[in-house]
Formats: sequence, structure tokens, C-alpha cells
Amino acid sequence: MSSQLHTFITTEEVQTKVQELAIQISKDYNQTQLHLVGVLKGSFIFLADLARALKIPCSIYFVHASSYGDRQTSSGIVKIQHSLNMSNKHVLIIEDILDTGLTLSSIIKEFDKQQPASLKVCAFLNKPERRQADIEADYTGFTIPNEFVVGYGLDYGELYRNLPYIARLENAEESS
Ligand code: IMP
Ligand code: MG
Repeated sequence: MSSQLHTFITTEEVQTKVQELAIQISKDYNQTQLHLVGVLKGSFIFLADLARALKIPCSIYFVHASSYGDRQTSSGIVKIQHSLNMSNKHVLIIEDILDTGLTLSSIIKEFDKQQPASLKVCAFLNKPERRQADIEADYTGFTIPNEFVVGYGLDYGELYRNLPYIARLENAEESS
């Protein structure tokens, strides 16, 4: 059966939400230097848009956390690679989607060891129904039901990340 895309959040809605988040974050950090840490690969497009909309000085880093294969199931095993020394820095983790929360909770545990001045999370999407770890984002774009979505950085087997909107993917194969 072939997979079918159904637009779920339009390009315009995506862009409006990014601007709203950027206004809120710029206000909250109020000229403090902010260190954005995008979780690869899914966050790269959201981070690029958000960073350009922020009105405060910020530096940009990425962390690679491998907990997912190239399909839909989180293994819960997380290997974390990054190069930022975050001691005494204000760090905002940027995620494409907060799903089970296993990836983020491992990242937070690791980052906390370096004693950042503050550590918060901004997730573009939130799927609370699937949560396994006790974690919530400080900034959330959209809360969505338990459906597999692609676009705006999110992939299915490395495809669809480049869509400027969020789509539901129907008939996607179960995880391999
Ligand atoms: P978590 O550890 O289950 O919260 O995994 C989060 C990661 O799983 C995200 O950063 C995505 O890469 C991936 N993910 C979770 N849900 C989806 C989805 O609906 N579409 C595409 N990727 C997803
Ligand atoms: Mg991801």
C-alpha cells in the first residue's frame, strides 16, 4: 500500500506559530545571551526559522541523540554527542516533536551535569498521549493527537523533512 500525505498544519499556520514562539522567547530571556541547542536531525528547519525570528543575541549548537531508527519506534537507547560547554549558560533545547520524551529526558540528564544557568525546552510539536518520561516542554508550538506526522524537519525513513507544512502520513509501514 502506498503512503498518503494529508496536510495537518499549513505552512501559514507553521510560520505564524514560529513568530509567536519567537516573540515569547525573546520577551522571556530579555536580552540575555541564549544558547540554542537543536536536536538533530528533526529540529534543523524549526531552529533555522525560530533563530531568525528571535530578537535576542543567540548562539547555535546541535546535539545528536540517536534513539530512533529510521522508522517510527523509539528504542529508548540514547547516545548523545555535542560540543557545547554549557556551564553557567542559558540553554534552550530545540526539538521537532516531544513524543515519548525518552530522548529529551536523556539529553536533559546529560546537560544538567554541566550545570547550565538555565535549561529549558522548546518543542514545535507535542504528542502527550505517547509520553513515557515525566517531562513537558517550556514552549510548545502545537499539541497533536497520537498520529504519525512528517514535514518541517520530521521524517519518515529520511523522506519529507523538506515539506514546509506538517502532514499526516497514512498507511506508513509499522516500524521495522
Ligand atoms: P521521543 O524520545 O519518543 O520523544 O522521540 C522524539 C523523536 O522521535 C523526535 O525528535 C522525532 O525525531 C521522532 N518522532 C516522534 N514522533 C514522530 C512523528 O510523528 N513523526 C516523525 N518523527 C517522530
Ligand atoms: Mg528528532
